[in-house]
Amino acid sequence: MSGSGLWPHRVDGAEVTKVLALVLAEPGAGLRAGPSAIRSFKRYLRQSTSRWEAFRIGGPGSPAAAALVLLPKGRTMLLMVPTPGELGIELTAQLELVRAILAAYAAEQLHFAQALIPPEASAQKCLLEAAGFRRLAPLVYLQRDLSPQATHCGQRSSTQESTLSFAESEWVTFSAQTYSEFAATILASYEGSRDCPELAGLRPIEDILAGHQAAGRFDPGLWQLLRIGGKAAGCVLLAPLFDQLSVELVYMGVRPEFRRRGVGSALLRRAIEQCWERGTRRLTLAVDDRNEPAKQMYGGFGFVPMARRDAYLYHWPRVSVGRPATSGSGG
Ligand SMILES: CC(C)(COP(=O)(O)OP(=O)(O)OC[C@H]1O[C@@H](n2cnc3c(N)ncnc32)[C@H](O)[C@@H]1OP(=O)(O)O)[C@@H](O)C(=O)NCCC(=O)NCCS
Repeated sequence: MSGSGLWPHRVDGAEVTKVLALVLAEPGAGLRAGPSAIRSFKRYLRQSTSRWEAFRIGGPGSPAAAALVLLPKGRTMLLMVPTPGELGIELTAQLELVRAILAAYAAEQLHFAQALIPPEASAQKCLLEAAGFRRLAPLVYLQRDLSPQATHCGQRSSTQESTLSFAESEWVTFSAQTYSEFAATILASYEGSRDCPELAGLRPIEDILAGHQAAGRFDPGLWQLLRIGGKAAGCVLLAPLFDQLSVELVYMGVRPEFRRRGVGSALLRRAIEQCWERGTRRLTLAVDDRNEPAKQMYGGFGFVPMARRDAYLYHWPRVSVGRPATSGSGG
């Protein structure tokens, strides 16, 4: 680690707040993230099962580079970086820090690293591309208001309802006994999928499931699979979020041979019913903006766009690299 002459430092304690103020700052606003955004992110870090580490280059009061690394179960990394050129962040130092982090974690044999940035964040985009990331997919974050005042009733039209006549259908809950059925159904649902198809085959199903379990608070009762005529047709995975009010739809998918027969709608209705039973106020999800079938379906259920992010992906070269030491002291 050389170049800027300053070393990457792993930070903890009060210094983490300073790193969060930079990595959570809205690009272009020229303002550090506010106390409430930082508080809720810290709460997430405390409650999440993900490991995490914060880094900076430069003095603790005015870092030239900063980053937060999240390591959810399932052997992936989510990298959060500030915007070069803003709030004292220097492109060269930031690039050096990102490269140092990627080199440091190579030994952990993660499947890939991801970064999520606003579509208009051109300085972050240049930084990530210079570090070897490539654009994976445009994501749109959707939300369905489930509060009692919300006007949309959560069901599709009554005509749609009446076409759902699945003979011998049953709901199955996730457990050690049904693990393989869920795993096989999820894998089958990737066929012909328009949801980040570039990720297909990048990690084994065990790590995909571990990653889904790491989203929010894992509750197996909220992972449901629909069997029709004894065959698994599709499944939907929900996770309550730490704000106590929202549930995330972590994944849903239908086997190709069951598509366009109302199975996706049945899964989504089941998800909404489960949320209502828990008194959930919001159901949220992220979908690939190129995934028209899913977007059509969610739109029909009253989901509306809340935010957009571009997902960037990094793959480590196959050769393993040693993990350089990082210092915990100031500088
Ligand atoms: C998206 C998906 C779950 C839909 O499942 P499905 O069982 O085919 O959905 P339904 O039959 O209930 O259709 C519900 C609505 O979705 C929309 N839809 C479904 N497939 C569509 C397609 N190929 N093109 C356009 N709209 C489509 C329609 O609006 C449809 O309503 P309609 O039948 O009244 O036109 C399924 O295509 C799938 O598993 N895809 C791969 C995985 C995926 O993308 N998951 C979403 C991750 S966020």
